Amino acid sequence: MSAQRLTGSLAPHARRLAGARIAELVAADPGRASELALRVGPLYANFSRQRVDRDALGALLRLADDAALPQAFRALFEGERINRSEDRPALHVALRSDLGGSDTTRQARAQAVDAHARMAAMLQALADSDVTDLVNVGIGGSDLGPRLVVDALKDAHSGRFRVHFLTNVDGSDAQHTLRGLDPARTAAILVSKSFGTQETLLNGTILRDWLGGGERLYAVSANVPKAEAFGVDAARILPMWDWVGGRYSLWSTVGFAIAAAVGMDDFRALLAGAAEIDGHVLEAPPARNLAMLHALSAVWNRNALGLPTQAVLPYDERLALLPAYLQQLVMESLGKSVTPTGDAAGLDTVPALWGGAGTNSQHSFFQALHQGTQTVPADFIGVVNPDHGYADNHAALLSNLLAQTEALANGHAAEDPQKAYPGNRPSTLLLLDALTPHSLGALIALYEHSVYAQSVLWGINAFDQWGVELGKRIAGELLPAVKGEGVEVSDPVTRALLDEIAARRRSGA
Ligand code: F6P
Repeated sequence: MSAQRLTGSLAPHARRLAGARIAELVAADPGRASELALRVGPLYANFSRQRVDRDALGALLRLADDAALPQAFRALFEGERINRSEDRPALHVALRSDLGGSDTTRQARAQAVDAHARMAAMLQALADSDVTDLVNVGIGGSDLGPRLVVDALKDAHSGRFRVHFLTNVDGSDAQHTLRGLDPARTAAILVSKSFGTQETLLNGTILRDWLGGGERLYAVSANVPKAEAFGVDAARILPMWDWVGGRYSLWSTVGFAIAAAVGMDDFRALLAGAAEIDGHVLEAPPARNLAMLHALSAVWNRNALGLPTQAVLPYDERLALLPAYLQQLVMESLGKSVTPTGDAAGLDTVPALWGGAGTNSQHSFFQALHQGTQTVPADFIGVVNPDHGYADNHAALLSNLLAQTEALANGHAAEDPQKAYPGNRPSTLLLLDALTPHSLGALIALYEHSVYAQSVLWGINAFDQWGVELGKRIAGELLPAVKGEGVEVSDPVTRALLDEIAARRRSGA
């Protein structure tokens, strides 16, 4: 589908709805609050506070047909080489569900099942040792997914291991992480699909030296020879594959830290939650398909309403890392402006994604959401049943969640303009019955599939990330200059900055 077709078919609806108010759309359509909603397994979504009416929704659903979204999902699950710039499939779904019939998918599934079994055996051996702490060394997709899930679920487990995450190349991260740990009772897992990532190799070197040998050094990588050359024993290396993108990889052996923190049974429950959404996304028609509806509302906000950012606001402290996780998933996947043929995408693509946990965020940036000049569409995420007994706190949390979505949508008139709330700010409300491994897996899979659907609608590749390479290359070229090795630096600003750093540097820094 062409960019003109997409924007052209939404434009008349955008014009028609230019002056429309969400509150009026709700008032004029008595069934809207319950009918623009959907329940799938442990997830409930309500889209009735998006600034869209049923005719515009019809236009969006026709776009889903034009873009052949159901067929695109079939191609994903069958392992077609949809990551065209790297000429490979994106088969993260094979890590958790068995829904594709192609040889490619079956082979991937068999590899995943085998790797999970090896991971379980390795963790059992670790559990039988006197190791108490595990340090996950990785960055981007080799950090954010496991970190999110461990943070969200760890309190519900007695936890055989304390799990730590070391990610930043800033040495203070290593210093902070290792403080208080005993090298004799700590294991490290170096997680890197490429095993060529600067941050992970530098931090891995710190860990290898600190541990005093490779006995408790583990790795996950698609590049086993490099991991071995680094000094990790082949028996302690778990496989990863080029058919899994880093930001889609928490379901693979990249989830080692998750399984260490919550146990293999709950790791498998996480996979089962994602598999439930996989089955739904593959079978449900666009009008009842949670991921497709979520993606269509994102496209409406971006391309019809022209909104440049998107907020994610989990009303659950355990999901505080969700915005950071989604920043990589959404912005690395959709941060593209050309199609796989190299043509301009011809429309606005990725929104800047940001957010934070409620209610804390209400006392921080919500002022701008309510009265700022930019309209920011938001996903609010709530959990119906808490895992604690503080009922008054939970009632307050839920009432704040509901109040904010209502206030943003309906606004409030006041004589004093400084005290008026313009309202008409769109949001989607996602509710989980409870935060469990199953529901968390479902929630993450929902976002993965929404991102893929958006990429299909926009005609861009969700599975490559060429935009991160240039900075890495220049950093490599500048490293000798920063170390004072007297190399030529061509850029005059960088030269001046290097001079400034050199002049201020204390010895040893
Ligand atoms: O630089 C970006 C990136 O390639 C991400 O896509 C990836 O998740 C991260 O770096 C880490 O890569 P690796 O797992 O190969 O160390």
